[in-house]
Amino acid sequence: MDAAAIVDDRPDAAAALALIAARRQCSPRRLLAPGPDAAQTGALFEAAAAAPDHGCRTPWRFIVVPAWRRAALGAAFAAALRARDALASPADLQAAAAKASHAPFLAVAVTRDDPQVAADERLLSLGCALQNILLAAQGMGFGSGLVSGAALHAAEMRKLLRLRDDERAVCFVAVGTVRQSRAARTRPCTHDFVELL
Ligand SMILES: Cc1cc2nc3c(=O)[nH]c(=O)nc-3n(C[C@H](O)[C@H](O)[C@H](O)COP(=O)(O)O)c2cc1C
Repeated sequence: MDAAAIVDDRPDAAAALALIAARRQCSPRRLLAPGPDAAQTGALFEAAAAAPDHGCRTPWRFIVVPAWRRAALGAAFAAALRARDALASPADLQAAAAKASHAPFLAVAVTRDDPQVAADERLLSLGCALQNILLAAQGMGFGSGLVSGAALHAAEMRKLLRLRDDERAVCFVAVGTVRQSRAARTRPCTHDFVELL
């Protein structure tokens, strides 16, 4: 069926598709206060809880990094850089630490091993939870972004996050008020990734 016809007939579908189309990656440094308040933050995690989850085992969790823990996160970023690069300059270390100060809402997405559910499926479920958060934030009028990187796997970061041996930090999710909107990227053409058997 023609996508335009679906949108004309179903306002809910039109709203959902518009929300999805409007979401775009926003660098945490372009996400300013105000961020989501307590009720909105709760709603973001309710959205995560609605993610598909084979076996319903919730093989993931989120660790929120509040303002008062940003300095500790910054120290972990710097320590992670130092561990990767013994020659990192003080300016490099400072820049690494500064990453922790961006975005009013910042949380770490963590997956957990579970022998009962395949790794692909656990990661997919976390991806769906993340997308739900991004879309819910978009619907509230916020911008959002995901950030990964080597620092997440550094010993200092794992220690700060108190990850268990069977857990892995996948990325940060950041939410806030967009300072400067970027043009959306050109999305891939559906013909390039959909085919008929
Ligand atoms: C797991 C994951 C990790 C990501 N990490 C980063 C990152 O470290 N830095 C970054 O700029 N974008 C990161 N992104 C966002 C992508 O760069 C972004 O989604 C992509 O450029 C497409 O742009 P769009 O989301 O606006 O469509 C990440 C996305 C995913 C799914």
